[in-house]
Amino acid sequence: MIEPIKWKDGKIVFIDQTELPAKLKYVACKDVDILCEAIKKLRIRGAPLIGVAVALGYALAAVNSKQNSWAGLKKDLAKASQKLRVTRPTAVNLFWALDRMERALLRFVSVKNCTLTKCKRFVLKEALKILEEDKNMCIAIGKNGAKLIKNGDVILTHCNAGILATAGQGTALSIIYEAKKQGKRFKVYADETRPLMQGSRLTMWELMRNNIDATLICDNMAASVIKNKGVTKIIVGSDRIAANGDAANKIGTYGLAVLARHHGIPFYVAAPSSTIDKFIKTGEDIPIEERKAEEIIYAGSRQIAPIRAKVYNPAFDVTPHSLISGIITEKGIYEIKRFRGI
Ligand code: MRU
Repeated sequence: MIEPIKWKDGKIVFIDQTELPAKLKYVACKDVDILCEAIKKLRIRGAPLIGVAVALGYALAAVNSKQNSWAGLKKDLAKASQKLRVTRPTAVNLFWALDRMERALLRFVSVKNCTLTKCKRFVLKEALKILEEDKNMCIAIGKNGAKLIKNGDVILTHCNAGILATAGQGTALSIIYEAKKQGKRFKVYADETRPLMQGSRLTMWELMRNNIDATLICDNMAASVIKNKGVTKIIVGSDRIAANGDAANKIGTYGLAVLARHHGIPFYVAAPSSTIDKFIKTGEDIPIEERKAEEIIYAGSRQIAPIRAKVYNPAFDVTPHSLISGIITEKGIYEIKRFRGI
């Protein structure tokens, strides 16, 4: 299986996802500013992968620090953390991972009589632990969700909640990979996911590499495909789930949940528990990223709308919990009435 991110010889090596599907390009990064740019530009994207990336970024800052005192190292790490925290606002995994790194380091320093070298080694070890845990969570989500898949299912998915969005085999797509391993027969439809085409560029690329029977559709075909092609389930990922089960995901997800309700089919959200934000009561409070007008005005380098067109470009929407049939995590499948932030 490809690895969208790894730590190698003191560097973060990641796949530049903006180059896919034309080129599978790996970038070796030894600088937090370059990592921040990669996250902002979606070279690295997908909530769990962003969490892993910032944890490794924090470790990179520790390893690179030239300070010779604990106070100095702390200052360098706080600076790196601040830069990483403002890269993208919606995926809570980013804040979850940095909070965990900071808390773990403070605990380590307070109980161990440690040298700076030991601290740096510890920070890297913790980041690699987050990466390994993410891989295991993906498998557990896949196994839990695969119980819902039946022979003959027709599954619709949106954006990319797959291998490329995590350090492992994905969340929503992990369910598909596990069901396939179990010998189940089913079809997948993938929305192209305007404006940045994570569905056509990334989901189709990875589903085809893994021999999944997948068909690409434009976003505006979803209603008619659900009705005419017998879609039986919709499964998506999430960037942040509020304590009441409202879930933010790529723009267009909410519309699919409404369609699922209209057609009487289940709508599932698959995500690791690090995507659950217990401090946010409802989806109303989830910060929704708005991105630049250029992403809508241009398709790649081709202009497709008037340059000065007034544009609204929210990257995510929130699906109310009342439209979600279940939340699939590494711990199990939660019906909304029993969810309560787990
Ligand atoms: O803007 P992106 O590509 O980072 O958005 C990604 C999504 O919306 C995914 O569906 C979500 O992060 C879940 S990934 C397992």
